[in-house]
Amino acid sequence: SKYVLVKKDSCIACGSCGSSAPEIFDFDDDGLAEVIYEGDNNKGVTLIPSDLLEELGDAVDSCPTSCIKTAKAPFA
Ligand code: F3S
Repeated sequence: SKYVLVKKDSCIACGSCGSSAPEIFDFDDDGLAEVIYEGDNNKGVTLIPSDLLEELGDAVDSCPTSCIKTAKAPFA
């Protein structure tokens, strides 16, 4: 089980995360990535289910600035 959020100050809007995991990431109004899964609103408090962990890992690995942070517990 994992939780995830995007450190937006490091996001360069490359879009790889949304391509790898479109159910988890989308762009916000400023064109930066954010976690949208189940309305998380990039708070990192929504559990990402096991069937999405492979694409989450792909997104993390694909991010050129390593600004996608995951944890085993909620961020807030
Ligand atoms: Fe930003 Fe990294 Fe996604 S740079 S758009 S969080 S792959």
